[in-house]
Amino acid sequence: MNNPLKKIIFPTAGLGTRFLPATKASPKEMLTIVDKPLIQYGVEEALASGMNEIIMVTGRGKRAIEDHFDISAELEANLKAAGKNEIYREVSHISRMVEVVYVRQKQALGLGHAVACATHWVGHEAFGVALADELIIAETPVMQQLRQVYEQTGSSVIGLMQVPAHLVSRYGIVKASQEKDGLLRLQDMVEKPQIEEAPSDLAIIGRYIFTPRLLELLADTKPGKQGEIQLTDAIARLAKEEPVYGVIIEGKRFDAGNPLGFLMANVELGRTHHKYGEAFTDFLHQLG
Ligand code: G1P
Repeated sequence: MNNPLKKIIFPTAGLGTRFLPATKASPKEMLTIVDKPLIQYGVEEALASGMNEIIMVTGRGKRAIEDHFDISAELEANLKAAGKNEIYREVSHISRMVEVVYVRQKQALGLGHAVACATHWVGHEAFGVALADELIIAETPVMQQLRQVYEQTGSSVIGLMQVPAHLVSRYGIVKASQEKDGLLRLQDMVEKPQIEEAPSDLAIIGRYIFTPRLLELLADTKPGKQGEIQLTDAIARLAKEEPVYGVIIEGKRFDAGNPLGFLMANVELGRTHHKYGEAFTDFLHQLG
């Protein structure tokens, strides 16, 4: 019997070097997409996929994330007293919608290391991992798309997307084969390969569900690409021991951890926003 899959890890200790100088003194996870910080989109996706036990792996300078999901009694009292009911409801909802545990990654030793920092809080259960930089707008939340395959198979599942050849060196790239039942089973994967070494054009997009075995493998995974402990290397080992499936995700994905993707995400979510969408779309038309 599969466990109910409630836990999800958000690695948020990264230095945000792709977005300097904006991220010099503020966490990149708190960059605003229209009217909410990036991390909130990730947390809302997790909740919509039935995962409400959140483990944030943070580092120095990330206190604003904790404050964002905390209750701000003073702010709430002010908003209430001023009769600003709509925004009061929104602000109080954020702090009550999730239980979050914060774990500190003391050194930036890689994504695999960040995930391993949460081992104690995960225990012996399957769990999700989501990279908040990757903002994905989808009719069925992406973690839910993965969950469906997890519930069918009881195995680890990874979100994938086709990328153009010149971008494969930015991602973990998988080698996959089609199973009889239409599922994509992963044989192997390489972190950020050169195009000539890439086993396919299917990239890992920062949404994962793992069996607890992954954490055991991570514990003795050696530093790989860029001298970092790579999550991809541990998944490749897992795929040699037990089935790991891939799901080509349905949705619009933005790499909001760099300025260009961030701008695109703001335009896309701005023009469809319930409050600002109409005026913003008019503005875009005026630009021609
Ligand atoms: C990480 C993973 C990589 C994945 C990517 C998705 O890389 O290591 O396998 O394709 O996220 O965004 P990063 O972008 O953190 O260097």
